[in-house]
Amino acid sequence: ASSTEVDISSVQPGQAIKAVFRKQPVFIRNLTPAEIAQANKVPISSLRDPQTLAERTKEGKQNWLITMGVCTHLGCVPLGAGEGETKGEFGGYFCPCHGSHYDTAARIRKGPAPTNLLVPEYAFVSDSVVKIG
Ligand code: FES
Repeated sequence: ASSTEVDISSVQPGQAIKAVFRKQPVFIRNLTPAEIAQANKVPISSLRDPQTLAERTKEGKQNWLITMGVCTHLGCVPLGAGEGETKGEFGGYFCPCHGSHYDTAARIRKGPAPTNLLVPEYAFVSDSVVKIG
């Protein structure tokens, strides 16, 4: 199995970048405190695929949201990582193919996608490098 190392040192709070892992896009997002608060105030029972932000991030690094950039509906690449303000109605990602909206924890909130964007296996090699896979 191959893994990918990504330098995240230039990703500012509020920014997201795309990397590639096993030929698929990965989104690496540095959440702002406001985006973290927005994710944490959502009642878990209201979610289609109930997961907390803490469950989707590493302890002590809750600002780093790392997910596959593959819509769980039919596999399009959602917008919101490097497309400026194109983040959909819930401030995370938006899949233009059939209109799935993901929130600031990349959880599905509206539209046809059945589940949250997948969190791959990853580990922090240092404060500035993450190894995916
Ligand atoms: Fe994303 Fe259908 S593939 S909404």
